[in-house]
Amino acid sequence: MDAPEIFVERTLAIFKPDVVQKQITDELEEIILSAGFTILQKKRLVMTPEQASDFYAEHYGKLFFPSLVAYMSSGPLTVMVLAKASAITYWRELIGPTNAVKARQTHPDSLRAIYGTDETRNGFHGSDSLYTADREIRFFFSDSIVEPIPRGQAARDY
Ligand code: TYD
Ligand code: MG
Repeated sequence: MDAPEIFVERTLAIFKPDVVQKQITDELEEIILSAGFTILQKKRLVMTPEQASDFYAEHYGKLFFPSLVAYMSSGPLTVMVLAKASAITYWRELIGPTNAVKARQTHPDSLRAIYGTDETRNGFHGSDSLYTADREIRFFFSDSIVEPIPRGQAARDY
């Protein structure tokens, strides 16, 4: 009998500059692993304002766009590709609502509530659909992640 098919989804996760500055990346990775994600890829980088504008192009023209771009290019980010069944939805649930201040009221256990700062400096990013996950993974890891993961393959070393 064939083994049941398991649909593994990928999502792009970012620890934003306010969180990276706190030097809690190891603690956060523990949380991610114990939530059942596999970390497929990981890198630390600083975006230029141009790259941050490109990444958030969907928000171009909104009032908060300039401060978002300034924040996202203000220091190092940790960028990761996470894999798990329903990874996109599950990672967004784990990070919680966009506004970290409101998240502390409504979702006090979420990562943005605990580690985020405010509405713009909210500590974390997560892709919001299969389409954006694909785009965002290619944005940061353009040379990879186009093949399906063979069954049973372990996470790549980094
Ligand atoms: P958005 O895509 O709406 O939120 P999410 O990150 O939860 O998908 O917005 C992108 C980022 O823009 C968000 O993480 C923080 C910033 N932002 C603001 O600074 N002010 C706002 O009013 C909104 C909606 C977002
Ligand atoms: Mg979004």
